Amino acid sequence: MKRGTASEALAGAPPSYDPARERLEIELLLEGVFRQYGFDFRSYAYASIRRRLWKHMVEAGLPTISALQERVLHDAAAMDRLLLDLSVNVTAMYRDPGFYQAFRREVVPRLRTYPFIRVWHAGCSTGEEVVSMAILLQEEGLYDRARIYATDINEAVLQQARTGIFPLERMQEYTENYIRAGGTRSFSEYYTAKYDGALFSPALLANIVFSQHDLATDRSFAEFNVVVCRNVLIYFDRTLQARVHGLFYESLATFGILGLGSKESLRLSPYESRYEPLGATRLYRKVR
Ligand SMILES: C[S@@+](CC[C@H](N)C(=O)[O-])C[C@H]1O[C@@H](n2cnc3c(N)ncnc32)[C@H](O)[C@@H]1O
Repeated sequence: MKRGTASEALAGAPPSYDPARERLEIELLLEGVFRQYGFDFRSYAYASIRRRLWKHMVEAGLPTISALQERVLHDAAAMDRLLLDLSVNVTAMYRDPGFYQAFRREVVPRLRTYPFIRVWHAGCSTGEEVVSMAILLQEEGLYDRARIYATDINEAVLQQARTGIFPLERMQEYTENYIRAGGTRSFSEYYTAKYDGALFSPALLANIVFSQHDLATDRSFAEFNVVVCRNVLIYFDRTLQARVHGLFYESLATFGILGLGSKESLRLSPYESRYEPLGATRLYRKVR
């Protein structure tokens, strides 16, 4: 009854269910993953990591977290599969179009004053958000002097991102997002349809560097005018959020811009007083 055991735990508490033991097993698994592979999920929000572990186990047909630990510690391919499930990669082009509209309005005029612009997209997933930004900067005449560093913990999504190919069936949705984000051209100018993929113009990828970076363990690697990290911090606990805010603060030049997701903010972060909000969106300017 392998599947039954995991499903029961997802649905509710089976008679032998012991939350303290489950938590211990999860902590041991995450400690093992960190020591064996260097991926540090120990400070992710517990409820969300628990849910994703159980989902993974149901799909892998594993009865207990300890069984998952046994498998993952001995099999790097099993770790790759687990990583895919732990690192929720949901993304979209021009996700929350209002963010990009505000970016054009509030940030672009400031960027025009710089001879060279460095942007960091942290937790970029398969790259949709990064290509959205590249298009925006190109339309504003800023792309030629921009360099975008796009990072993620997950090498598999970065490989996908480097291809510049996104699902063709989502182009209708992305076109609508693009228009709502303030885009004025014909969105289809930017890609060519290839089988079931939309291949974005190589010129748009020319100034983007994709590389692996773990926000939980790695350090800052350059000074940026803009840091965008959207829909990533929601998965972290308070301690890890504070670490990452420290990393972004260190990485931003004075008057640099921080862009967060719609459910994220600097409120209650130790760095709140170092920034001022730009309008009512999730854009902040480092002021001290
Ligand atoms: C929900 S996606 C958000 C993608 C994109 N920023 C957006 O808003 O559409 C979260 C991304 O964060 C990445 N991520 C999770 N933990 C990370 C970490 N410790 N360091 C870097 N990236 C991480 C995941 O791999 C995933 O691609």
